Amino acid sequence: MKKNILVTGGAGFIGSHVVRLFVNKYPDYKIINLDLLTYAGNLENLRDVEKKSNYEFVKGDITDESFINSLFDDYKFDAVIHLAAESHVDRSIIDPLSFIRTNVLGTGVLLNAARRQWKEHSDKLFYHVSTDEVYGSLGEAGFFTEETPYDPRSPYSSSKAGSDHLVKAYHHTYHLPVVISNCSNNYGSHQFPEKLIPLMINNIIKKKPLPVYGKGENVRDWLWVEDHARAIDVIFHNGKIGETYNIGGFNEWKNIDLVKLLCSVMDKKLKRAAGESAELITYVKDRAGHDQRYAIDATKLNKDLGWKPSLQFEEGLDKTVDWYLNNTNWSDNVLSGAYQEYYQQQYVLR
Ligand code: NAD
Ligand code: TYD
Repeated sequence: MKKNILVTGGAGFIGSHVVRLFVNKYPDYKIINLDLLTYAGNLENLRDVEKKSNYEFVKGDITDESFINSLFDDYKFDAVIHLAAESHVDRSIIDPLSFIRTNVLGTGVLLNAARRQWKEHSDKLFYHVSTDEVYGSLGEAGFFTEETPYDPRSPYSSSKAGSDHLVKAYHHTYHLPVVISNCSNNYGSHQFPEKLIPLMINNIIKKKPLPVYGKGENVRDWLWVEDHARAIDVIFHNGKIGETYNIGGFNEWKNIDLVKLLCSVMDKKLKRAAGESAELITYVKDRAGHDQRYAIDATKLNKDLGWKPSLQFEEGLDKTVDWYLNNTNWSDNVLSGAYQEYYQQQYVLR
């Protein structure tokens, strides 16, 4: 049994949902959440589990080799679920080196620590959480499958592709027991309001312009974050060593259609006149190198491991909008860095 589990990036959006799921569902596991608490990481996201006896937080940087090696020595992890990353494409265009450092070097440091510590491999697991963006960009038709050749095009997706290749290389060369999942765009509670859905929700609440890149015709495939966390649980426990699993809910939306849907949902919730929020839509300069379309074929995960999404998109979006409407302080605090200042005072780097 894999008992001592290192989750990296557990204070971030998806990581906090994974930590919550594992801490609540598996009281016999000890979940150690390692996170640097960058702008994207917030311990506030884990308030409801922070006092549980099977949860522990450690502040630290995955690129710090001696720190990571000593962490592996201290805790003797049975498994790693690796989510820590720089994750926003627009930031990767402005500052690619941070992405190369965290996503490529950081993953390499973790893999090497696992290789060094795990002399006996048989019951260990290094689970790498990745993105469908490594496959590149689709035209009108077709889906990404596990066999689609890698063709990353942004500094973000290239750095994730680099990390995926390192994980595969450690399996091939050193027989490190690994599994990789590549997921489509996530949405849900606790997502930093720089990504499309929470940014638009926040701007609609504040009656600020809704910046749609280019013509708004790019397509993304959206999955509710709690369904991603459930998929990670299933793959962690039943996935085949050395395999890749694509995760997605066959739920494609053109950006402009999605933004218009959000506007109409929120007009009703905010008791605004129909069409009022849509007037905030503002077409802006397109993102450099903007990938046209992502669409995941998750048949393998469904057939081999029985996972399927639990929610229809409209229901998930409704829950998400409600969460942001009920947690405007959370958005204000993460955007102002207020939580960061608070938590940075409490934790020092080991
Ligand atoms: P996020 O930006 O919300 O969270 C990233 C977390 O990593 C933060 O808590 C941050 O503090 C931490 N972190 C960053 N650099 C670190 C470092 N050097 N050392 C330790 N911790 C560090 O990201 P997310 O959206 O939750 O994504 C999590 C993972 O899932 C990433 O690997 C991402 O590539 C992948 N993914 C994301 C999506 C998506 O739609 N958001 C889809 C598929 C895959
Ligand atoms: P994003 O949430 O950044 O995810 P990703 O780029 O990783 O898919 O963006 C989703 C889509 O929305 C993408 O096509 C870019 C577009 N977009 C906008 O049109 N306006 C925005 O303000 C943002 C953040 C994204």
